[in-house]
Amino acid sequence: MSCRLQDKVAIITGATSGIGEATARIFAAHGAQLVIAGRSKERGEALVESLTEQYGARFMFHAVDVGREAEMAGMVDACLTKFGRLDCLFNNAGAGERSSVESVTEEEFDRVMRLLVGSVTFGMKHAARVMKSSGGGSIINNASIAAHRINQGGYLYSGAKAAVSHLTRLAGVELGPHNIRVNAISPGAIATPIFWGGSSRAETLSDDENAGKMAKLQGNLAKATPTPRSGLPEDIAYTALFLASDEGSYINCQDIIVDGGRTAMFNERS
Ligand SMILES: NC(=O)c1ccc[n+]([C@@H]2O[C@H](COP(=O)([O-])OP(=O)(O)OC[C@H]3O[C@@H](n4cnc5c(N)ncnc54)[C@H](O)[C@@H]3O)[C@@H](O)[C@H]2O)c1
Repeated sequence: MSCRLQDKVAIITGATSGIGEATARIFAAHGAQLVIAGRSKERGEALVESLTEQYGARFMFHAVDVGREAEMAGMVDACLTKFGRLDCLFNNAGAGERSSVESVTEEEFDRVMRLLVGSVTFGMKHAARVMKSSGGGSIINNASIAAHRINQGGYLYSGAKAAVSHLTRLAGVELGPHNIRVNAISPGAIATPIFWGGSSRAETLSDDENAGKMAKLQGNLAKATPTPRSGLPEDIAYTALFLASDEGSYINCQDIIVDGGRTAMFNERS
């Protein structure tokens, strides 16, 4: 296999589950040096150990709450200390929520906006400071089809992901002259624990219970898109690989929908 990220250093947030974990595995297989960033020290260190056994010592875990600017700054600094540079930041961490216009509370607003919009805002700020001085890089933000269509997520979640999509364009224009590309990926329905309460809930269940939920989910999602299978974390990971690699070097300010045709189906209906 060709190593498309040879000599590149990447940070992936939310890398201990779902899309982030799949991206970490694929980036590692393509030669990247990686900061596995996330909340779960146990899962993060286990992933570092498994990747190190497979590919050698070019991985580290960094504990981070992505909703806190100081922690995002610390994550970027830890990457610099360990690897000396940063070529790619995948702002991936997130969680679902189910608010509506009339039920939304101030507490939900602060929590969801901090997690989904704050993480991307401050991730980009601190990655840019480092990438500027080393000649450029690629920032990838995980948005959602909920940014583009109704009924694909909670009220605040969808608004927050729309903000992620537009912040991506704004940042790509501002940072482009420094050779920093900023793009978003908008996944459709991808089979991950986000559908049964996220990785923290999944950790409270047995392996068998999680496997059962995953099998049922994949069966249901396979019926919900023109492409007759469920979306998989690897579908997003390979898109991120392309954007992180030199093959994506003329792509900037884009929000790439990866959804097996799900949003096109809604176009047909409207
Ligand atoms: N799965 C889908 O269908 C889908 C669709 C569109 C967008 N997305 C987006 O993809 C991203 C990844 O989601 P996933 O489906 O892999 O879900 P997941 O629950 O499997 O993974 C989410 C990860 O984010 C981490 N995380 C959550 N809050 C955090 C915090 N405050 N600090 C640090 N890490 C935190 C979790 O620990 C977990 O590792 C999210 O941004 C989500 O909104 C997912």
